[in-house]
Formats: sequence, C-alpha cells, structure tokens
Amino acid sequence: MYQKELEALKKAGRFRQREICDDSLIDLASNDYLGLAHNKEQFQKAVKLIEQYDYFAPKSSMLVGGYHPLHQIFENEISILNGFESAITVGSGFLANMALLESLVRKGDFLLIDEEYHASGMVTLPNLSSRYEKFAHNDIVDLRAKIIDIIEKLKPKRLIIAIEGIYSMSGDICAKEIFDIADEFGAILIVDEAHSCGVVSKKFLGVFEHYDIKIKPNHIKMGTLGKAYGSYGAYILGSNHIISFLENRAKPIIYSTAPSLFDIALGLVNMRYIQENSEFLRAEINARQLLVKEILGIELGALILPIWQKNNVDAIKNRDFLKKSGFFVGAIRQPTVKEPILRVILRVGVSLESIKDVILKIKDSKYKSI
Ligand SMILES: Cc1ncc(COP(=O)(O)O)c(C=O)c1O
Repeated sequence: MYQKELEALKKAGRFRQREICDDSLIDLASNDYLGLAHNKEQFQKAVKLIEQYDYFAPKSSMLVGGYHPLHQIFENEISILNGFESAITVGSGFLANMALLESLVRKGDFLLIDEEYHASGMVTLPNLSSRYEKFAHNDIVDLRAKIIDIIEKLKPKRLIIAIEGIYSMSGDICAKEIFDIADEFGAILIVDEAHSCGVVSKKFLGVFEHYDIKIKPNHIKMGTLGKAYGSYGAYILGSNHIISFLENRAKPIIYSTAPSLFDIALGLVNMRYIQENSEFLRAEINARQLLVKEILGIELGALILPIWQKNNVDAIKNRDFLKKSGFFVGAIRQPTVKEPILRVILRVGVSLESIKDVILKIKDSKYKSI
C-alpha cells in the first residue's frame, strides 16, 4: 500500500531500517554518554531499590493512582539538585516536549522556537495554528527582532521561547543571551536539556549551571533519562504553579500510564552516581574533548562530534567504512538534519585508545568531508 513512497525513500537515500546493534562493534552512536547503560552494579542497585516495594509496574496514570513513592523521591531529589521549586516525571522526552508545548501555549500566547528544536517539539506546531514562529538557529538577533515584531503586531498574553541546551545533532550550545532576552521581555523559557544534563557543567546539571543562571519562575527545564542517565523517561522542572498547571492540562501526563517504576529507580540511582563520581567523569569527558581538539582542531561543548557529509549516500558509505573497522557511528541524513552528518558520540566507557583510533580514521577517510 505504501510501496511507491518506500521506493522514493530508497532512491533518495532516505530509507531507514531498525537494526539490532552488533555487540562486537564499539558503540559510538548511542546517547549513553557516560556508559551507564552498561553498568551492571547500577542496574543491581535499581533492582534492590524497587524490590523494597510491593509492586513494580506503574499500573495507571499518575492522576489515577499511578503515582508511586519512587516518582516522588526522584522528583524531590532532581528538583532540589537543580534548584527548581518542583518537578514532574514524564514517560519520555518526546512526551515531555509534547506536554510542554501543547499545554503551555494557550489562546493569545505566542511561541518562538529554535528552528533546530527536536522533532518532539516540532510535531506540536500544527496544533498551535498561527501562534508560533521559528527563529534562526541560536540566532539572538533574529530572535529579538521577531519578539519585537510580534509584540507590536499581536500583543501576546504570554511569550514562550523554546530552545535546547546542547543541540542533539550539531552539538552546539545555546547562546547565553537567550536567557537575558527571556528576562528582558518577560518570556517563559523552555530549555530541553536532553543532551546537556549529565554531560555539561561542574555538577553535570547542564546549561543552567554552565551559565550560572539564577533559577526564576519563568524558567522551565526538561531533561531525559534515556541519555546520560542511562535509563528511560524524562522530567520537567519548573515553579510550583507551572508543574501544577502541567498536571492539570498536559495530555501526555494526564492520559498516559505513569513512567515505568524500574526506569525511574534506575534514573534515580544513576543521578546519585553522577553526583558522587563527578570528578572522575569530568576527567573522562575532558580527555575526550582534548583528543578531538588535538587531532581535528574542533572544540566540543559536549560529547557530540558531528562530521558533515556531502550527501546522504556518502554518509552511509562513511558509516559502513567505519563499521568495517569495528566502530558503530550514526549516519544522520536529511530530513532529520539539513545537511547529512556522521554523528560520533565520544562515550565514557569506550577507551581513549579506541576514540583516538576512530578520530584518526575519520581524519584520514577517503570519503571525508570535514
Ligand atoms: C533534544 C531532544 N529532546 C527530546 C528527545 C526525546 O527524548 P526521548 O528519547 O526520551 O523520548 C530527544 C531524543 O532523542 C532529543 O534529542
């Protein structure tokens, strides 16, 4: 029934297929930044934690009896750690972004969203009809100009700005000035820290900590457990009244089964692990960033190394070339990105020797386009 469309995707080099990751390859593709998805001691800690309770499945929505002490413990610890008043756990980062954008942008409000924001935010836009505009990626001049224009023309009740802390594909860090612009215009600022929490800043709390931002009622932070936290799920941090509003209005929170208890337990023990091992983890991250700087001359803000490719076909060829040498990297193609890239994640847990090896191979690759 969809053969023509599938053929067209194949022709354009955009055909996708899920594959079981070959264990013999070195994983430099996943978002398991700190290697926690492989840490069996942490897994056992989470098992022990959940065994203390009578039941192990969330059973229902958080609003209909599915809220468990583990959700509450996690929410309390993560909000205190990040200096926010309140937190709520959500089933996944995808659901968290849908929850935020769909429920907070009300009639008379206006959303300004970075053009490179994750698909989970973009998917909500058609529901907002004309109450949104994209601004040029990380461009404070464009953002300011658009805000001024919108205030003049529409006089919105609330302005909402949505950005990522570290952008998932380019590895760019958001401009600090966006925090100042949000304050200047009294805008709510949503920061998706999926790729920055657990990687960036001294206590691994992401860009709020990195830029030493004093948390204010207009700040909302979303973080995921499926990346550096080595589990699955997400959380939203905000003021008491924002979290209460989400609890009352956000459909992915109200009408979805509460987040998996095991995943929250694993996220909780891993959050504590990151805090307790921050010095060791920081040294590991620094060493990886230094290698990239020395060999490729690129300064990384996090652990995402994007290698731009001439076209989708080259991206696949290069990925397969590295696969033959034992390395698994992501080949990210259009339309996910404007220009195709090899997305190389310099995971803690992969030896520095292997990381050096792959960086040198990329440098010498006959398909290289850096
Ligand atoms: C920036 C960003 N936000 C949100 C998500 C969605 O998170 P999850 O995988 O937990 O659904 C992702 C996932 O890749 C992401 O990269």
